[in-house]
Amino acid sequence: MALDLAELSYPMQRSCPFHPPEAYAPLRENQPFARVRLWDGSHPYLLTRYEDIRAVLAEPRFSCEPVREGFPHVYEGRMVADKADRSFLRLDNPEHDRLRRMVTKEFTVKKVQALRPYIQATVDRLIDNYAAMPQGSDFVEHFAAPLPTDIITLLLGIPYEDHEIFRRATRIQFGSRSTPAEVRESLAELFGYLDALITRKEAEPADDVVSRLVHDQYRPGHIDRITLINIVRLLLSAGHQTTQNMTALGVLTLLQHPDQLALIRADASLIPGAVEELLRFSSILHTGARRVALEDIDVNGHLVRAGEGVICSIPAANRDGELFPDPDRFDVTRDAGPHVAFGFGVHQCLGQVLARAELQIVYETLFRRLPELRLAVPFESLRFRHDMFVYGVHELPLSW
Ligand code: HEM
Repeated sequence: MALDLAELSYPMQRSCPFHPPEAYAPLRENQPFARVRLWDGSHPYLLTRYEDIRAVLAEPRFSCEPVREGFPHVYEGRMVADKADRSFLRLDNPEHDRLRRMVTKEFTVKKVQALRPYIQATVDRLIDNYAAMPQGSDFVEHFAAPLPTDIITLLLGIPYEDHEIFRRATRIQFGSRSTPAEVRESLAELFGYLDALITRKEAEPADDVVSRLVHDQYRPGHIDRITLINIVRLLLSAGHQTTQNMTALGVLTLLQHPDQLALIRADASLIPGAVEELLRFSSILHTGARRVALEDIDVNGHLVRAGEGVICSIPAANRDGELFPDPDRFDVTRDAGPHVAFGFGVHQCLGQVLARAELQIVYETLFRRLPELRLAVPFESLRFRHDMFVYGVHELPLSW
């Protein structure tokens, strides 16, 4: 089936909140390098096949720098935030590797393993608080958001009480309807906050990531202050909003698939695999990993010309039947291991070990401690985050 390319605007609408837009499957089949139209009139490629997406993300001649001509910007407000971003997420090598190496030691398997008892205690405390609230209280506000915020602020050495500042920043900077002026104002507020934080860490270092960056990297001149602020901003925003959305969407997905929930409740050893399946199935980075070709590049037989933008659809890759049989079925017993929910290549998620630990502990503890957990409102009344850069559910009222 050939789709009318002139009408193929991006991002596309979903018809079911649990599934990617319907056009992805025929595109993957017939036009795996489809041209789509963005808000600014540009026509980057939308890639929907797993193998093509991995090939692009592994190819250093595709740049992830938003300031380059041809880089695909999916929302106008997000373009402002992306262009201002000097963190390693938005830099190519060799600078990417140099900066990323400054923080890799903070998110290793060993570090996260040592953190597990704290994560468990925090999950237990938040469940106690949540269970003491009126039935129907919002799980996003009272559990899914505070959990990763608590963990990342502890690691970074940022006062938890200041969370409203960076949650507001996230809402504005990752919202599809935010205007460039709103994003600029929000960036200025957040940069001002982080600048003051760094000044405090210069005077009073503590045992935290920001203090170590200040004293080991910034003070000796390995990075300038703007780069330091950008790295902290990246860790802060990636550390709280992704896991928040995955936590809430994952709980909802399990509640809507009671047979699968019963499996993990009966056998906790299934939980790590279930987390991988939830990551695959949800693919919350739903607007995709974006790149621009630095020269003419052959991708599995398709020529992408220098300066052309490419959107690698993570949801589409994770529903590719070549890799995942019966891909639209949510199945906690499948081998979802090769999914690309954390990206692929040099920019693959730095926080994935931490995210996995948080999610595994949440799903194991929550359904054990609140066995009657259920939706408190009709499913149809839920508002999904179609309007945000990271997908999820805005509110999730539950009973227990
Ligand atoms: C379920 C949770 C998460 C998901 C689905 C997720 C997903 C992703 C994806 C897809 C990328 C690659 C983007 C690209 O290639 O353009 C990425 C990068 C990144 N993520 Fe995550 N992430 C999650 C949690 C976290 C957490 C908890 C942290 C904590 C610090 C984190 C930190 C980062 C960083 C620093 C990068 C940039 C890596 C680089 O450019 O080298 N993420 N993440």
